[in-house]
Amino acid sequence: MSQVLGKSVSRKDGIAKVTGAATYSAEYQLPNLVHGYVVTSTIASGEICHIDTSEAQKTPGVLTVFTHLNAPKIFKPQSKIYEARLPLSDNQVHYAGQIIGVVIADTFERARDAAFRVKVDYNPQTLVIESSKANFKEAPRHFGEEMKFSFGDVDKGMAASEVKVAQTYESSTELHSAMEPHAIIVDWHESDGVTIYEHTQWVAASQRTYAGLLGVPVEKVRIISPYIGGGFGSKAFPWSHAVLCAAAAKEIKQPLKIVLSRRQMTALAGHRSETEQIIRLGATADGTITAIDHEVKSVTSPVDVFIEACTSITPVMYKTDNLRLMQELGVMNVGVPTFMRAPGENPGMWALESAMDELAWNLKIDPIELRLKNETKIHQRKNLPFSAKHFADCLKVGSEKFGWKDRAKEPRARSRDGKLIGWGMAAATYPGLRSGASVKVRLLKDGTAHVLTAGNDMGTGAYTAAAMVAAETLQIPVEKIRVELGDSRLPDGGMAGGSMMSASIVPAIMAACQEVLKLAEVKTTQEAFALLEKSGGAAFEATASSAPGEESKKFAFQSWGAHFCEVEIDESIGRLRVTRWLSVMDIGQVINAKTAASQVRGGVIMGISQALMEECQFDPNIGYPVVYDLATYHYAAHADIPRIDVIFVGTPDTNFNPAGVRGVGEIGITGVSAAVANAVYHATGKRLRSLPLTPDKLLV
Ligand code: MOS
Repeated sequence: MSQVLGKSVSRKDGIAKVTGAATYSAEYQLPNLVHGYVVTSTIASGEICHIDTSEAQKTPGVLTVFTHLNAPKIFKPQSKIYEARLPLSDNQVHYAGQIIGVVIADTFERARDAAFRVKVDYNPQTLVIESSKANFKEAPRHFGEEMKFSFGDVDKGMAASEVKVAQTYESSTELHSAMEPHAIIVDWHESDGVTIYEHTQWVAASQRTYAGLLGVPVEKVRIISPYIGGGFGSKAFPWSHAVLCAAAAKEIKQPLKIVLSRRQMTALAGHRSETEQIIRLGATADGTITAIDHEVKSVTSPVDVFIEACTSITPVMYKTDNLRLMQELGVMNVGVPTFMRAPGENPGMWALESAMDELAWNLKIDPIELRLKNETKIHQRKNLPFSAKHFADCLKVGSEKFGWKDRAKEPRARSRDGKLIGWGMAAATYPGLRSGASVKVRLLKDGTAHVLTAGNDMGTGAYTAAAMVAAETLQIPVEKIRVELGDSRLPDGGMAGGSMMSASIVPAIMAACQEVLKLAEVKTTQEAFALLEKSGGAAFEATASSAPGEESKKFAFQSWGAHFCEVEIDESIGRLRVTRWLSVMDIGQVINAKTAASQVRGGVIMGISQALMEECQFDPNIGYPVVYDLATYHYAAHADIPRIDVIFVGTPDTNFNPAGVRGVGEIGITGVSAAVANAVYHATGKRLRSLPLTPDKLLV
């Protein structure tokens, strides 16, 4: 019987974080450390005709300046880096803020000062910075999947429908805005290789990638990343500044640190691409969907391909005989867009769940009923049944707990203190993913156990989840478990991305705990401790791995949810406030009720922020983002966020892995912006189809 799993346990790393004892990438103190400051382009497209570093070179404290004329050696990597073009590879400029040099000095301030003394002459070319002027083409394959897909006949399905929706939905460019800025320290030591202190969501891959970039064997590279101050998809692979830092450190043979400023991060550390999505839905008068058509446009950078794969959710949500998916990709002179919490799923659900609400109003059917009626039991692209799907419970429990039956039947029907009140709901979804992972478990004679893996915790609660699973399997208290994460010397724990860290490491932890008892030839952990005590041995230690098997040939794995919210709108000043929130989630087995709910809340907060205010526009003349720090880039503060209630429903998904855990990192954000916009319609009768829902759009 489960004693620990599903309970609420406070974060193991909580005290270290709030007291400042947790060390982040930029904070490691190394002797002889020098500082790099990147020089960035002030044009968005063109070429460098002349670059003059003489004044910078003469500035006190400056060691060296690298530009494309004397770029440090970088080998072509065999694994993914965020920007395929290697830094300083030529004199071409593809986006504003691109790295065109790096100044290295004895202090950060001196490096920065000298960086501004580098003089550059450009030959600028016409820039493309507005998506309306970009050239769009069918998007290439994404994770092996065609971006064009269909079955049945959408036009026939639309013709056969009695009620329709055909609308365009837009979402804006967003910045990740993690609390911890991007930073790296590279400690190159000639004989022993290199130690890299860099927040990374994927330690083992990072180790391989840097080995490739530096042309050294993998075992010569050590990655240290015990703490990540938020990543959201922008800390999974090396960015250009980090690639350059590694190569430059090797050249100067000194430990080198590069920290990006918030302004530099707007171009050099990823963003979520804007999208334009056309959704067409058709239904018969009883609410049976007859056709779903989803067309998406997103943009990428000239130097790499990234697709905001919004259509990934369309075959998953609602049953239809006629489906058509199409994604197009345009190129603009911007830095490389990348994964940002539920990439694809988030904007995809914004459009689909807005359209579903419109369809419900057009049909005069309750939006919950419409979703229940059209739920699909199979993944309509994989043609596989969903495993342990409890979407209907999310809708029903949410409806009950929120009091949905008391909802006003018409828009503009409720007000409070002179403000309009509206209720909205939307579905949430995210796939269940997992990778191979290895974990070492050690039993010590002092009665404690250690769990060790290179997998990591980007603020998600993995330290605590790992301890809870070990405590459960070993049948000892959570307090007796010590967890070490984020060091490439530990067994490969896979990636903290795609919401899969728990689903990957939990089965491996369970297996390693069982293995260590087997190795000690005992039935219980207490017996193992007693044996150590008696023999004077230091520890029992075992490593085990787990990996996905054949199950994905039989089932589709997906998590589900439903959001319910209330908004309050002051039409005279266009002010929108979210005043109530409830999310009901089916994520399989919950490991830690407290941190899992926190993950959902974090997602909802990010989603409300996206709905209300997040946008990054580019100056049409110079191509720079007009926002450049956490003050100019508006995102939600405490005052914008109501209490968020989270309820978990469902059952362990044991077809997926022995623990039945599907993960919870990203699902919380999906559907949130649609739930808000749907509530805005209920409050005002105004349908807003372009994010963010800023005051100008709300003014009457
Ligand atoms: Mo997530 S966008 O896979 O870190």
